[in-house]
This record gives sequence, C-alpha cells and structure tokens, in this order.
Amino acid sequence: MSPVDTHPHDASDAAQKPSRRRFLQSAAAAAAVSAAPHVHAQQQAATPASAPMPPAAAPMMPVKLTINGHPYELQVEARTTLLDALREYANLTGTKKGCDRGQCGACTVIVSGRRINSCLTLAVMHDGESVTTVEGLAPDGDTLAPIQRAFIEKDAFQCGYCTPGQLCSATALIAEYRAGDASAATADVRFRPAQLSDDEIRERMSGNICRCGAYPNIVAAVKAVASGNA
Ligand code: FES
Ligand code: FES
Repeated sequence: MSPVDTHPHDASDAAQKPSRRRFLQSAAAAAAVSAAPHVHAQQQAATPASAPMPPAAAPMMPVKLTINGHPYELQVEARTTLLDALREYANLTGTKKGCDRGQCGACTVIVSGRRINSCLTLAVMHDGESVTTVEGLAPDGDTLAPIQRAFIEKDAFQCGYCTPGQLCSATALIAEYRAGDASAATADVRFRPAQLSDDEIRERMSGNICRCGAYPNIVAAVKAVASGNA
C-alpha cells in the first residue's frame, strides 16, 4: 500500500463524514427545491388564463302582483325578495328593511290577507297575489286609516322606522281577531274575549320590534281601534 493510498475504512469514513463543501452543496440544493413551488405558484397567479371568470348574469323572471290595488308586472331575478321587489323594482319605499333576516318586522306587509315578513320570501313565490303595503292602508290619498290616526293620537312612534311594519301588522291583527283567530295568549281557545287585552295585543304584535320603545302607546293605539274607539 503506497503512502498516498487510503485505507478502505478511511474511504468509507470520508464518504460518511460531512465535509464543509458537501454541507454547502446539499443546503443549496434543498433551498432550490423548497423555493421552486413558490416561484411556480407566482407564475401561475400571473397567468391571465388562470384568473377566475366573473359570474354570469342571473336570468330575469316575470312577476305579476297587485300592489295596493294596482297591477304591476315586474322583471326580477329569481332570488329577489318581496321586500326588494317592492322597494327597488316597484319604488314603494314605505316598507322598511331593518334586519333583512326575519327578526324585526319592519318589512311586514299583507299578502292575500296574511301579514308576512317580506324579507323572508321571494317575489316570484307570490306571482298573481295581492299585496298591501303601508302606502295602501289609507282608503284614499286624503283620509288616513283608523290605525294610522290612532298611532298619531296615541303618539305611538318616535323615529318612525318600524311604524310601516307596525301599522300593517296591527291592521292584520285586528282582522285576525275579528275573524276569531286565537293567539298564544288566548286563555281559552274555545272562547274569544269581548275585547283584546293588552297581553293579547303584545303577543300578537310580538313580531314587530320597536327600537324606540313605543310599545305602551302602540298597544293603546291598537286597543283603541280594535274596540271601535278610534
Ligand atoms: S327586515 Fe324583515 S324582519 Fe327585519
Ligand atoms: S318608532 Fe323608532 S323604532 Fe319604532
């Protein structure tokens, strides 16, 4: 064995022991590998072909409604709520949008005799039906409805934002009561009291929230009309 020859054990050790050069080479290779996907992703993001396409316009659908006694033919998207159809398509902005999720009652209108939250129903579901909004409660342009007069006389509002919904709800409430409908507050559903109690009115109006807290005066106004004293 010459002095320059390496012992087999020495050669094996040299292969296994990390030299400074080997360490730097492998570290550089690892850095290149880990950086490669990032560069690729950036290149992809900059490619116009991979950009998301804008959504296609929703098709419009015809809806025929009788609103406050007048015929309307609207073209709306299928997802349009009755509230938005009234406000944005029929330009009847008396009906208010409070929560837009069925919690406040500001959007209450009367559809085919029943009060509903117009934010919770689609306009296309009411094709051919009759809708009464706050603009349609007065019998004519000059005379207020009894419930509207009572709200003024009893001072049953402050800011007035909830008032259109309160008025529609109260109108339907009185009709429901006169038709003999019971409520959760009716003590004995076999009998109807001669007069709506405050508890009955509060229960039947409980879907209409008033942030100003005009509740006592709202109850007084509804009671006055229901008892024929307004
Ligand atoms: S806006 Fe419809 S319930 Fe509040
Ligand atoms: S009057 Fe203001 S929310 Fe009812």
